[in-house]
Amino acid sequence: METMGNLRRTRYCGEVSMADVGQEMTVCGSIARSRDKGGIIFADLRDTTGILQLVFDEDTPAEVFAKAESLRSEYVVICRGKLRERASKTDKVATGDVELYVSELRVLSEAQTPPFEIRDGINVNDDLRLRYRYLDLRRPSLHQTIVLRSKICRIARNYFDENHFCEIETPTLIKSTPEGARDYLVPSRVQPGHFYALPQSPQLYKQILMLSGFDRYYQIARCYRDEDLRADRQPEFTQLDEEMSFVTEDDIMTMNEGLLKRLWKEMLDIDLVTPFQRMPWNEAMGRYGSDKPDTRFGLEIQDLTEVFRNTEFKPFAAAIQAGGTIRAINAKGLADKLTRKNIDKLGDVAKTYGAKGLAYSRLTAESTTSSFEKFLTEEEKAAMYAAAGVETGDVLLVVSDADWVKACTALGQVRLEVGRRYDLIDPDKFNFLWVVDFPLFEYSETEGRWMAMHHPFTMPHTEDLDKIESDPGACRALAYDIVLNGVELGGGSIRINDPALQDRMFKALGFTEERARESFGFLMDAYKFGAPPHGGMAYGLDRLVMLMLKKDSIRDVMAFPKVQNAGEPMSGAPDVVDPQQLKDLSIALTL
Ligand code: AMO
Repeated sequence: METMGNLRRTRYCGEVSMADVGQEMTVCGSIARSRDKGGIIFADLRDTTGILQLVFDEDTPAEVFAKAESLRSEYVVICRGKLRERASKTDKVATGDVELYVSELRVLSEAQTPPFEIRDGINVNDDLRLRYRYLDLRRPSLHQTIVLRSKICRIARNYFDENHFCEIETPTLIKSTPEGARDYLVPSRVQPGHFYALPQSPQLYKQILMLSGFDRYYQIARCYRDEDLRADRQPEFTQLDEEMSFVTEDDIMTMNEGLLKRLWKEMLDIDLVTPFQRMPWNEAMGRYGSDKPDTRFGLEIQDLTEVFRNTEFKPFAAAIQAGGTIRAINAKGLADKLTRKNIDKLGDVAKTYGAKGLAYSRLTAESTTSSFEKFLTEEEKAAMYAAAGVETGDVLLVVSDADWVKACTALGQVRLEVGRRYDLIDPDKFNFLWVVDFPLFEYSETEGRWMAMHHPFTMPHTEDLDKIESDPGACRALAYDIVLNGVELGGGSIRINDPALQDRMFKALGFTEERARESFGFLMDAYKFGAPPHGGMAYGLDRLVMLMLKKDSIRDVMAFPKVQNAGEPMSGAPDVVDPQQLKDLSIALTL
């Protein structure tokens, strides 16, 4: 192994071009691969910006050529040479027109054969990739994703900076507060038996910052939630978090449309058209069966309740009598694809999401098969076809339920399944949408009480203020989510800045006065000293990067993600600790 000696990088591999031909330069990085053609050696040098071909031949100084012969994949080198035009060009790499004719080479580190090839498009099991994440991160596509993520953060920072936001870090060892997901806890050594929580978001601190007069705040904030992993959910994730004073919902949405417009323009050269569509929660649930509708395709849910108002078909009649609903999707032109077997699979999806079943009518040119038409009158059948626009070639999928949200949710999932499976979704589209007017509360069967749908500090709609106690289910919140292609990208709300109203909210959520004080006393006190109206939102930064760069999982946009068991395979976290450490924390395990 050698040192760099007096060689210092003058150029990055990925940034040279024909314009530099004839120049002497020094580059450094890792050998991606090397080919000895007998008398001539080609080696691809990779650095963080890209790949440059190095060449050595019989005119190369003998000791340099000898070193070139020893080069293996992943050896780390620094070299100097003259850039020249390549005889056989390639468009596989950005620098495919040129190569570096090397006159000086220093091998700075040798490398073992890696457990998998360091290039894109290889099929390596995830566990291995994550165990050797540092090798995985050398692969160009993942590497570039992490670089682009950094660029996204920079653009966002610049935007906030231009708009008078102040970047402020908030603590990550904080008080555990109720509501929300399960906390990660950290024991205190100094105060035995006491625990910090890691923040699920900087929510309370950012509100306090507004009370501290900062006017506008943002932070790229690490958040922790002890929940099960999914493709778009990690226990440790990052929010692009913000809060503004003296604003309405509209102001916040407009500011954020500006941010997204800037990001999409600078990253992808795409001009997003603003303002984005705004859809009340009720409408989103009714038309798409989701509070994060994927509007890239149709197949909207239709309400057939009126068609069956007086039906004698028992399941429908029972649902309607119970104040419920009959909803349907017309899978237009899909009768050939939606065979009986495939419809059954959709039925399973509907059941997973709470439907009792999925009724269907399938109209092919030859015949109509239906699970329920024989129980309908001719008039009902005709009215149903007319209402849902059913023609030959279509499949009508119907769910009845006493609870309209349940019926729509089940159909919403069926809709997504049909959309995905039968290629109805244009992957090139970026469909943004604000979902607004969320319910303030949702009823939790497990807890037997009303819970805050967003969080307990969310401002109710002015028109619904008098229903907080009498009809919590009908109260709407000044809360909004930004949805992109069916994924909840972010969300926020206007906050309560009136202590009396905040007290009412806590009561409605079933808090005793003592418990509210215990949990949120510091916040309630702070609001007594003058509180500007304020609100804000937070993006899941990982989700934003994932959707923008069209990755399948947020794992693919995080440098060191966790796996299904919430572990981090490279370092082996979580791990057992030394008994003395536990003793210092006054902790005894009861495993
Ligand atoms: P919320 O809980 O909706 O709001 O979170 C905001 C956004 O964070 C992302 N997100 C996640 N991303 C990855 N893994 C997770 N486990 C995860 N959980 C959430 C989502 C989500 O939209 N303090 C409020 C915001 C506010 O009111 O200003 C909050 O945290 O993209």
